[in-house]
Amino acid sequence: MTEINSVTTLTQDGDVAIVTLNSPPVNALSANVRDGLYEGFKQAIASDAKAIVLICEGRTFIAGADITEFGGAMKGASLPDVQAMMENSPKPVIAAIHGTALGGGLEVALCAHYRVAVPSARLGLPEVNLGLLPGAGGTQRLPRIAGVEKALEMMTSGRHAPAKEALEMGLVDEIVPEGQLKEGAVAFARKAVAEGKPLVKVRENNAKLEPAKGHPEVFDNFRKANARKFRGFLAPEYNIRCVEAAVNSASFDEGLGVERKLFMELMMGPQSAAQRYYFFAERQANKIPDVPDDTPTRPINKVGILGAGTMGGGIAMNFANAGIPVTIVELKQDALDRGLKTIRSNYERSRGAVAEQTEKRMGLLTGSLDMDAFADCDLVIEAVFERMDIKKDVFTNLDRICKPGAILATNTSALNIDEIASVTKRPEDVIGLHFFSPANVMKLLEIVRADKTARDVIATSMKLAKQIGKIAVLVGVTPGFVGNRILGQRQREAQKLVMEGAMPWDVDRVLYDFGFPMGPFAMSDLAGLDIGWVKEKSKGESIRDVLCEMDRRGQKTGAGYYDYDENRNAKPSPVTEKIINDFIAKSGRNPRKISDEEILERCIYPMINEGAKILDEGKAIRPSDIDVVWVNGYGWPVYRGGPMYYGDQLGADKVLAKMKEFQGAMGDDFKPAALLEKTVAEGKKLSDFKR
Ligand code: 3HC
Ligand code: NAI
Repeated sequence: MTEINSVTTLTQDGDVAIVTLNSPPVNALSANVRDGLYEGFKQAIASDAKAIVLICEGRTFIAGADITEFGGAMKGASLPDVQAMMENSPKPVIAAIHGTALGGGLEVALCAHYRVAVPSARLGLPEVNLGLLPGAGGTQRLPRIAGVEKALEMMTSGRHAPAKEALEMGLVDEIVPEGQLKEGAVAFARKAVAEGKPLVKVRENNAKLEPAKGHPEVFDNFRKANARKFRGFLAPEYNIRCVEAAVNSASFDEGLGVERKLFMELMMGPQSAAQRYYFFAERQANKIPDVPDDTPTRPINKVGILGAGTMGGGIAMNFANAGIPVTIVELKQDALDRGLKTIRSNYERSRGAVAEQTEKRMGLLTGSLDMDAFADCDLVIEAVFERMDIKKDVFTNLDRICKPGAILATNTSALNIDEIASVTKRPEDVIGLHFFSPANVMKLLEIVRADKTARDVIATSMKLAKQIGKIAVLVGVTPGFVGNRILGQRQREAQKLVMEGAMPWDVDRVLYDFGFPMGPFAMSDLAGLDIGWVKEKSKGESIRDVLCEMDRRGQKTGAGYYDYDENRNAKPSPVTEKIINDFIAKSGRNPRKISDEEILERCIYPMINEGAKILDEGKAIRPSDIDVVWVNGYGWPVYRGGPMYYGDQLGADKVLAKMKEFQGAMGDDFKPAALLEKTVAEGKKLSDFKR
């Protein structure tokens, strides 16, 4: 064995040289890795071996460029040098893939002459999710292997294709049995030598580009079909342009030139910086200072859900999807039947639904009207009506029924969890698991740590969140927790703006243009204006009251703040406009023209300010956790990083100055957070905050 450098070795198995990489955690293409590959291949080519296998140790093949190196000066061998060394090797090079071959990792593999993979391997070009495009020839090679349409789809979604699909599209040449990657790759290499297989250079294969030549509509149609999904993002468009260049350029190298230029443009731009920041923010959220990775966890083999309403049903689906049996308890048979029926129809309507799978998942759900059915559950989550007296009653019963060590969780969206926990004899087992609606779809899970919550209960919840595919953020007990507390600021300003002269569609348009999927009024129409509205008590005291009284209760009734046509397309409503103007007149104020800039600042700056208060109070661990909450739970555009990141981009001093100006004009809704003042006084950024 030759040690090439600290992360690379060269060994030989008969006449096959094996370059092995071992750079945990994910064999990312750091300078060290590139150096090791370059030198390893150089020596393998110079050796008497007849073929070369590239294989990785640890959990994965190369998962991409080393994102931490981006933006700094490049050291060591360049990626194109490594790739040229492999592609121009006079001996067949075989990449042996397990785990994931992603981004630069796949681009390296595409410079091997052949690729073998185990069935569990996944391959993809996920750069788009970092606001980038594959910058090492991927945009030119993928369409040459998979065809233009498939390449467009893979590159703009960042999807990881499973090995079987990769085989079908020619990305992989052979699948070898799980656990036998090295043997399989070496056998493939020997076969290549014995059969004199050609040294395939993907760059030379132009056949799959031909069908798109002279057909610009292929790209235009793709753009049109995905316009909604790509809105606001630069990277998808740049990925498309690179594939266009692959088709239209006179040579591979010309296409590569386009790729390089567009890659650098994205890399230096604000969107990718925000998306790269966000990549690490999401991973950082898993780290809890006083709950280290080795904190023991409790086994969760059976889950109980109380309440089969909007949230309970969706929450149950998450566990059934992960193969965990669930007992659902309701008050009455008809509510239970309704809940289970909704779950079934959600499964049946989901994309790619397979009857067998629906039955399997439904088979994991058991309904009951008796809370005693929770006796053997390891975790119970209550999702009953949002009333403290009911929650307390429920937790008194759970305390009596559940076995020792069971975790007792509440899905409350605003109630004080310390108070809920106080009715039990085991407050250390009580935690908030705040799912977002629809709970089977939304990625975010706020895990709410109460005063006495035990560390292993937190560790177990964080682990479980991963198991059910959620992105968890640990927050503290505070009204609305992190997400809704910040949302409250935006909602308040949106309502006030309307009473000052902006129309709901003005506010919505500004926030939509900022990058949110929809504005607050469109959102209310979608959710239903009558949530929490009680007909008998309604006295026309607010715009919402009047709308509901007129049976304009949102999309479901064909009208709310907006008017809707039969396809649910929204139109500004003269009826709403009149109601608003009447309210303004009654208030004795004069409506004024409000600029888009003011709408944005009034809605967004108080959110940043509230985030600072939350940090100061210790209700979020770090600024980036707040960003993760808002990107995943509320549609904050990821290319703007999240409210706290955005605050830093604007400049904490600018946010503070504006808050002071608004405070002077409009009062203490805009009172600057002490932490914001301190950050500015010390010339720091919000992201510098550390507890
Ligand atoms: N660079 C640097 N660090 C990376 C990394 C990368 N490309 N990919 C993962 N890491 C780090 C993570 O930050 C994390 O560090 P931590 O333990 O300190 O928090 C650690 O590796 C493990 O990552 P995950 O927690 O995400 O582990 P999982 O097992 O859940 O997922 C993965 C593994 C699927 C590989 C996932 O990490 C991932 O998607 N990584 C990014 C892949 C990617 O985007 N590649 C393209 C990079 S850009 C590129 O290649 C440009 C090229 O075209 C020129
Ligand atoms: P829902 O009204 O749709 O469902 C509540 C269900 O609980 C009903 O089916 C009811 O019959 C049942 N129930 C009430 N008391 C019960 C009891 N003692 N035993 C058994 N079942 C009982 O309400 P929803 O929207 O699902 O909300 C549930 C909880 O989730 C609330 O605490 C709410 O604040 C929270 N939440 C709601 C979100 C939403 O968007 N709807 C989002 C996040 C949290």
